[in-house]
Amino acid sequence: MKRTAIYPGSFDPITLGHLDIIQRASEIFDHVVVAIFENPQKKGKHMFSVEERIDMIEGSLRELGIDNATAATSQGLLVRYMEEQSIKVIIKGLRAVSDFEFEFSMAMVNKKLNDNIETLFMMTDTNYSYLSSSVVRELAGYREYHSDLITHYVHRRLVERFGADP
Ligand code: PNS
Repeated sequence: MKRTAIYPGSFDPITLGHLDIIQRASEIFDHVVVAIFENPQKKGKHMFSVEERIDMIEGSLRELGIDNATAATSQGLLVRYMEEQSIKVIIKGLRAVSDFEFEFSMAMVNKKLNDNIETLFMMTDTNYSYLSSSVVRELAGYREYHSDLITHYVHRRLVERFGADP
């Protein structure tokens, strides 16, 4: 049986920290679905449209040669999408203890909604422990792009949006 996991998030935009988790998960699972879902706390606050974020996920996966991960999006609850797609495992990355409290409660809620679903936590690579999409967005606002934070593909999309490095 094909082992599939879902890696949900906002990915606004996808970073090398996300991609490190996807790369490692793709070695454990046959297929990883990188799925954009609505985060109610970020509603209306996204920098990139869902289509642009999907494009950056797909371009980054291609660039890094991760060929058993695909991008997807859905509205509504994560667990309901997983039921439709027969996916049983959620992958979440943890950077610091501060991530844990929120992620722990999300995992509990998802388990309450469907007891057959498991959330697996993967620790971030120490190189990316400070990295987040919001850091990338803030730096891009100053036209600061760093190749150790994002793929070349995302770099190009950020330059299109914010302009070339000064
Ligand atoms: O990258 P983020 O913003 O931390 O990702 C959070 C996300 C999108 C994975 C989370 O908000 C989510 O799962 N949203 C879908 C709605 C849902 O299923 N919520 C959980 C039950 S309250």
